[in-house]
Amino acid sequence: MARIQTFNKIAAEGIALLEARGHQVGPDVHDPDGILVRSAKLQDITFGPSLRGIARAGAGVNNVPVSRCTEEGVVVFNTPGSNANSVKELVVAGLMLSSRKIIEGCQWVQTLDPAKVDVGKEVEAGKSAFGGPEIAGKRLGVIGLGAIGVMVANAGISLGMEVAGYDPYLSVNSAWGLSRSVLRATSLEALLADCDYISIHVPLNDETRGVINADRLNKTKKGARFLNFSRDALVDDQAMVKALKDGTISTYVTDFPTAALLGNPGVIAIPHLGASTPEAETNSAIMAAQQLADFLEQGNIKHS
Ligand code: MLT
Repeated sequence: MARIQTFNKIAAEGIALLEARGHQVGPDVHDPDGILVRSAKLQDITFGPSLRGIARAGAGVNNVPVSRCTEEGVVVFNTPGSNANSVKELVVAGLMLSSRKIIEGCQWVQTLDPAKVDVGKEVEAGKSAFGGPEIAGKRLGVIGLGAIGVMVANAGISLGMEVAGYDPYLSVNSAWGLSRSVLRATSLEALLADCDYISIHVPLNDETRGVINADRLNKTKKGARFLNFSRDALVDDQAMVKALKDGTISTYVTDFPTAALLGNPGVIAIPHLGASTPEAETNSAIMAAQQLADFLEQGNIKHS
């Protein structure tokens, strides 16, 4: 039996899997052999003497001190793909939100006072105030063609968009998952210069931190809409605010609100809901629990 400490609320199916295999699981477990975490930041935790593995129920591992784990022989697992469909669905919503003024329109409707105005008549006025273009026929640029990027690219195609993809590390699996109609961009700069809608799907690491900076934003197609459902620090938010002010970017849809972004027109900030569906939470928890149990029981390091 292993002792597994949980951080955050982990879907019941993941906990049940570990308990069914005889492990002790919970937030109060001391001197754990393994840790199961969702988004809690573990950078500063002290590793107990028994710790052998940390499993993240999610794709990104930027909340786990990976270098320290490597130095101290603690194996880190994550669950790429486990929540890809949920993220893709929210990106599709983000495309629509960036194009049609749905949020502003809904907020305006709520301000109408039926005691004072004829709501039906006022709504007619709203039709012209809150219009916005179709996304079909426009060009979508997808940066990063992993599990989520490929799904987003294929969703763009099924919505009638012309899709360009950029990924210097395109894996064979991702290449097979891509529709033949996705164009390969020669460089990140080419993609930014060409696309009306740009969605970034890369992990946050030393190579990608701040990859969308002032210089790249300056070279982006005027009025492009930018979507970030990956991590806040991929984008220099001060540079993004400036790009929104000067009209280089018309809308920034992000699942990672930061202080610098709040209150700026053109920002649509979502409270990190990409993977917040019961389906994704269950998939991620089961996958993470399975990997951790296999490793703690038999030393198997099996990655999905
Ligand atoms: C991920 O990295 O896959 C997400 O951040 C998961 C989550 O929202 O917990």
